[in-house]
Amino acid sequence: MIAAIIAAAGSGERFGASIPKALIQLGDRTLLEHAVASISAVADQIVVTAPAGYEEQIKKLVGDDIVVVTGGATRSDSVRAGLAAIKDADFVLVHDAARSLASVDLAKRVVASLQGGAVAVVPVLPVVDTLQQVDAAGNVVAAVDRAQLRRVQTPQGFTYSVLSQIHQSAQDATDDSTLALNAGHAVQTVLGEERALKITTPSDLATALTFLGDATTFTTGVGVDAHAFAQGRQLWLAGLHWPDEVGVDGHSDGDVAAHAICDALFAASNLGDLGSNFGTSRPEYAGASGAQLLEETTRLVKAAGYSISNVSVQVIGNRPKIGSRRVEAIAALSAALGGADVALLATTTDGLGLTGEGKGIAAIASALITKN
Ligand code: CTP
Ligand code: MG
Repeated sequence: MIAAIIAAAGSGERFGASIPKALIQLGDRTLLEHAVASISAVADQIVVTAPAGYEEQIKKLVGDDIVVVTGGATRSDSVRAGLAAIKDADFVLVHDAARSLASVDLAKRVVASLQGGAVAVVPVLPVVDTLQQVDAAGNVVAAVDRAQLRRVQTPQGFTYSVLSQIHQSAQDATDDSTLALNAGHAVQTVLGEERALKITTPSDLATALTFLGDATTFTTGVGVDAHAFAQGRQLWLAGLHWPDEVGVDGHSDGDVAAHAICDALFAASNLGDLGSNFGTSRPEYAGASGAQLLEETTRLVKAAGYSISNVSVQVIGNRPKIGSRRVEAIAALSAALGGADVALLATTTDGLGLTGEGKGIAAIASALITKN
């Protein structure tokens, strides 16, 4: 019987997020869920140590088959809390939630080494940088031979009796192999892997994303809209009211920039277009403002599993002059798009066509969205 403790009770101070590190999202799931997914392929029983106050949230995340206990002040304290919840195991793996992308193969190598008779097993990688020892003033005082040094990872594996023995007293170390070594146990190594890197800072998270490979797909879409000016109508454009301008014809508020963005988003997500989503089949959207349509489009696109990366829209017409209200308009559009990046441009058409002759206004938009 193989048990596993996943240490997830750290606050992630060096990462600097407002939530515990284990709950940070990497691709389509949290760091903790990644760690649980690979360990559950080899372990019969899993205990997760949670930061105090996050036990219920983590229980919901990992499901009923996994025991969640409150972690301690140090990693070693947390491992001890996890160990107390384990009965009857031959072997125990101890894994950092922060090494989220450690593979099933790595866990299997650790287990195989235990089954081959090792009492303590640690995955290691060679050191590639030159190493120097420095003094407090920052001067190099000695060269260190890297050939004998290794970088240590998790999951680490122990017989139940060795792990219990090394945690009998409240000692502290940054990993369990150090405690096993200090207690005089033989610690065997297996080959580690780069993808088991410990996610410590936001740049580590970016590196981890590259190990997820092409799990993220990008799609783009383009949308166009045009309306003729109509005396006596208010002008709404790019989510703003333009009080001194002539408005445009149409059933809606005629916000061509908002409508073009909606169509670009529908195109990128392959969810139809403005007409098929908000036409006669959805009478509640008759007369909706451009901002409302953007909000609902954003909801539909997100519900289909996408996030909006950025949107660019160009207004084509002689009036109004966008420049002085560009910042305000970008803020209005971005708010309606759930905070997505927005670029807003404007151009005239050298007197040509509907817009050049001053008969109306048009807009063209593009959107980039991602799916995990
Ligand atoms: N850990 C734990 N209990 C603690 C401290 C750390 O269970 N009291 C866990 C972390 O959640 C992490 C692993 O031990 O999965 C390795 O620790 P580290 O990467 O240092 O994470 P944090 O302690 O959260 O980060 P920091 O040191 O930057 O605060
Ligand atoms: Mg720490």
